[in-house]
Amino acid sequence: MRTQVGIVGAGPAGLLLARLLERAGVDAVVLESRGREEIEATIRAGVLEQGTVDMLNECGVGTRMMREGALHRGIELRFGGQGHRIDLAGLTGGRAIMVYAQHEVIKDLVAARLESGGKIHFGVEGVSLQDVDTRTPSIHFRKDGAGERLECDFVAGCDGFHGVSRPTVPSRLRREFARSYPFGWLGILVEAPPSSDELIYAWHERGFALVSTRSPQIQRLYLQCDPQDALDEWPDERIWTELRARLATTDGWKLKEGRIFQKGIVAMRSFVVEPMQHGRLFLAGDAAHIVPPTGAKGLNLAAADVRVLASALAAFYRSGDEARLAAYSATALRRVWRAEHFSWWMTSMLHRFHDDDAFSLRLQRAQLEYVVGSKAAATSLAENYVGLPWD
Ligand code: FAD
Ligand code: PHB
Repeated sequence: MRTQVGIVGAGPAGLLLARLLERAGVDAVVLESRGREEIEATIRAGVLEQGTVDMLNECGVGTRMMREGALHRGIELRFGGQGHRIDLAGLTGGRAIMVYAQHEVIKDLVAARLESGGKIHFGVEGVSLQDVDTRTPSIHFRKDGAGERLECDFVAGCDGFHGVSRPTVPSRLRREFARSYPFGWLGILVEAPPSSDELIYAWHERGFALVSTRSPQIQRLYLQCDPQDALDEWPDERIWTELRARLATTDGWKLKEGRIFQKGIVAMRSFVVEPMQHGRLFLAGDAAHIVPPTGAKGLNLAAADVRVLASALAAFYRSGDEARLAAYSATALRRVWRAEHFSWWMTSMLHRFHDDDAFSLRLQRAQLEYVVGSKAAATSLAENYVGLPWD
C-alpha cells in the first residue's frame, strides 16, 4: 500500500486532517484501531469554538451540525447562590460557540470520507511507525490477521494520548510538560429538558459542577469527584443530591432531573510534548497535548493543529516548499500553550483543591467576582472561550 500521508487514528484530529487534505488534493489513508461503531458511540466533548464550526462548514461537513447543534452566545458563572452571565458574543464582536457532541462530529466526518471514496481502515492492530526520520517512512500493522505495510511521504500521529506515535519519537529528542489535578469529573447523560438556555459553570465549596446540553431531550451534566472513585460509589440519588447542592441559587431555580442513562469518570491532566514533530512524523491533537476539560478546548485544539498541518502539507505538494512543515511544531505550540494556560486557569478558579484551604477558596471567590464585575476580565475569559483568531 502507498499513499502521500499516512494518518494514525480516526478521532477528530485524524478525520479532519484527512478531510482537509482531500480538499487540497492530497492523498491520505487513515488507520484506526477501534471499530466504526465504537468511535461513533464514544461520549466525549461537546463545545465547538466559532473557528472550529467555520472550519467544519468550509470543508463541507457542517450541515447536520448547523441543523441539530445549538448556538450559544453566552455562558453563566454561578457562585454564592447567584448566576452571572458572560456575554460571549457581546464581548467578542459577535463570536459564539456551538454545542454539538464530539461523536456526532465523528459520524459526519466518517460519512463524508466514505462517501467521497476516501480510505479508513478500522480495527487495525499492532501499528508501528518505521523510518520516520527518513524521506520514506512507513506504517506496519495487521488487518484481519494479515501483516500490512503502508508506505508514505509523511505520517500524521493523530492517535490520542495513549497512541504509539508520540513514543516513536526518541525520548532524548522530546520534552514532556505535565500537571495532574487531585480531582476528576463524573459525567452523566440524562433524559430531561434543558435546565438553562446556556452552559452553567458552578463554583461551590462542595466542588465544581457543570450544566451542559446535547439536545432538547438529552442533557449533559458533570460534577467534580475523586478521580479514584468507582462508578458504583455514585448511585443516581447521590449524583442528584450533589448537583442540587452545588447548583442551588437563592432565586428558586430548579435543576430538571430525569433518567440517567450514561455515567463515566475522567481524570484531569495538563500535558504538552515538544516538539510536535520528528523527521516526517507530525503529532496532532491529544497525541501531543491534553487539557483539563474546564475550558472546553481539547477537540478545538485538535482542529487547530490539523488546520496548520494540512495547509503546510498542501503547500509542500503544491510547490515542494518545506518551510511551513518545518515550522509546524512552533506554529501549533503557540496556540497550544495559550489553551493550556486558559484551561489550567479555568480549572484552578472553579474547582475545590483541598479540604482545608480556606485561603484558596477566598482567592477563587475574589477572582470570580473580578471576572463577572470587570468588562476587561470578562472579555479575557470570553475571547479565550470562543477561541482566539487562528493566526
Ligand atoms: P482522540 O479523540 O483520542 O482520537 C484518537 C484515535 O486514535 C482514537 O479513535 C483511537 O482509537 C485511535 N488510536 C489510538 N491508538 C491507536 C493506534 N495505535 N493505532 C491506530 N489508532 C489508534 N474535551 C472536552 O473539551 N470536553 C470533554 O468533556 C471531554 N471529555 C473527554 C473524555 C475522555 C474520556 C477523553 C479521553 C477526552 C475528553 N476530552 C474532552 C478531550 C477531547 O475529547 C479530545 O481532546 C479529543 O478527542 C482529541 O481528539 P484526537 O483526535 O486528538 O484524539
Ligand atoms: C460538554 O458538553 O461535554 C462540555 C461542555 C463544556 C465543557 C466541557 C464539556 O467545558
